Amino acid sequence: MSDQRAQWGSRIGFILAAAGSAIGLGNIWRFPYMTGENGGGWFVLIYLVCVALVGLPIMMAEIMIGRSAQKQPVGAFRQLQGGRTAWAGVGWLGVLAGFIILSYYIVVAGWAMDYTLKSIVNFSGAMHDRAELEATKYRAVVDPAQMRRELTEHRAVRDSKPAIARIKNSIVPSAWNAYEQYVAALKNAQTVNVTRHEAWNTAWADQPDDVVTRLNEPDLRAPISAEDRARFELVQAKLFEKSVFAGKVGQALGLLEQIELTRKQYWLESKTHFGAVPDDQIRSLAENMTRRKVMREQVENAFGAVAGDGWMSTFWMALFMIVTIAIVAGGIAGGIERACGILMPTLFILMLVLVVYGMFQRGFGEAITFVFKPDATKLHPSSVLQAMGQAFFSLSLGMGAMITYGSYQQRKSHLVSESITIAGLDTAVALLACLMIFPIVFTFGQEPSSGPGLVFMSMPLAFAEIGKGGMLLAVVFFGLLVFAALTSSISLLEVVASYFIDEWGWSRMKAVSILGGVIFLFGIPSAFGGDVQFAMGGWSASYGTDFLSTMDYLASNWMLPLGGFLIAVYVGWVMPSSFRKAELDGVAPLFVMGWLLLVRFVAPALVIIILLQSIGVLDADELFHGLLN
Ligand code: TRP
Repeated sequence: MSDQRAQWGSRIGFILAAAGSAIGLGNIWRFPYMTGENGGGWFVLIYLVCVALVGLPIMMAEIMIGRSAQKQPVGAFRQLQGGRTAWAGVGWLGVLAGFIILSYYIVVAGWAMDYTLKSIVNFSGAMHDRAELEATKYRAVVDPAQMRRELTEHRAVRDSKPAIARIKNSIVPSAWNAYEQYVAALKNAQTVNVTRHEAWNTAWADQPDDVVTRLNEPDLRAPISAEDRARFELVQAKLFEKSVFAGKVGQALGLLEQIELTRKQYWLESKTHFGAVPDDQIRSLAENMTRRKVMREQVENAFGAVAGDGWMSTFWMALFMIVTIAIVAGGIAGGIERACGILMPTLFILMLVLVVYGMFQRGFGEAITFVFKPDATKLHPSSVLQAMGQAFFSLSLGMGAMITYGSYQQRKSHLVSESITIAGLDTAVALLACLMIFPIVFTFGQEPSSGPGLVFMSMPLAFAEIGKGGMLLAVVFFGLLVFAALTSSISLLEVVASYFIDEWGWSRMKAVSILGGVIFLFGIPSAFGGDVQFAMGGWSASYGTDFLSTMDYLASNWMLPLGGFLIAVYVGWVMPSSFRKAELDGVAPLFVMGWLLLVRFVAPALVIIILLQSIGVLDADELFHGLLN
């Protein structure tokens, strides 16, 4: 069996394929927005530590399992344990995780395809010209006093954000949750209108003649259901009986006044600021503001539609899946290795083009400062845990992708240097992605902390600001995103398909087309899940509620860390040491000891901590509150 097993054509082929698996949407889409949300420097530093202490040892462990067993995950554990074993469950978990991740991964990748095409279509710069025109018109007709008012408001809202965020961070997050629950409950209770009913009931008792007029008021005529009554009582209970809840709501209410006051201060400051600015300058500033606004609307119209359009998303997803299937059907050396051999170098070159472009932009310095300078105020205790989850996702760990890729490799090559190269390339690309995105974001006046919409909203906006040439850059940018996603999606499909090929004896063609088809069907709810325009403005708000995010949450925060934990424990404690020794032949003993220490103790312990955080047993933000603020 292992004689006829497919193999990588070359060592570099394996490295490119494994790096291709690791480098993907996780690096270019997820990492930069997480860095943006978590305040830059510190997050990057913590991420690097996670990669070194958890990611790298587990990557070595995975490649080691695959290489010594020469089988995909389910078969690998059976092979190494010599027959039926519960450890095969780790392989099962991996196949399932691959199935789930791929189902939504192709949706996001499909959007990138859509954006690439739209950038080509919008290349003419029509959006840019239109915004210029409207802004000029605005300048001509609106009176400066009005402009001053609008500018004042705009600046006040923008500048007060950090101060307001700081105030909000000064109490535990659950206080705000309590407050939100309270507001929602109150709103429910108001629609029930219990008080008015009661007032009316009493009034009716002593003035029966007025009944006709009163009956014409529809909301008073409707009887109060037991359910409504219960809802109302719940609010009352929360308000008056549960003192902890009431206390938290009280805290939040106290801060609201402070926030209002802050807002007013900023507004006044803004007003004085613009008061001193001469009229002609006001006109230019206001014109610029309008241009941005019109641009935003246009970009939203041009690009925003796809995520909110289930059919469109499904179309692109199908196309992306077909390409993925076609590559994986070609086999290891002839399909995956060949595709990565072309796509990966192209990806590196395109990225360098954009990074070099960024280096010559005004915002480059600001971007460097942002990515590398630690800003403790934006760092939350949960950032550490997010960084760790990101390390798993980005390095393709925890579900046996590296076991599978490793299994197509001969034993003789250097496990350690290969793992370091793969992890190093992945990390380098994540950092380069920041250096490619943030200079453009800063130079063209976008928000660095705009969340999951950073790539799908802020970037098209910045490109539109640049004008004609910007759309060309957009083609490059979204094109490289598609390439990066493709080399990752093939690894996900390979894990799932190789199980059916190896264990069920399916032909490769049959496995990839059937499984690709099933995964595509399973992805449809994710494609339709965001029928509000959530890739654009509303995304952050609805993020965490739609199907796609639920799948991502399940897979990234649960399955990958769990799989990674089990793999580390297996290799550290269970795997027969003769296998381990054979794989580590020739590696310096000190290095082996360090690795064992990490894989036995450090990595499992740290992973357990994220798992506890993921299931909410341990809420780091709540627990360590005040420690960092
Ligand atoms: N690592 C890829 C990314 O960064 C995604 C990915 C591919 C993946 N294969 C995986 C994640 C296996 C976890 C497991 O986009």
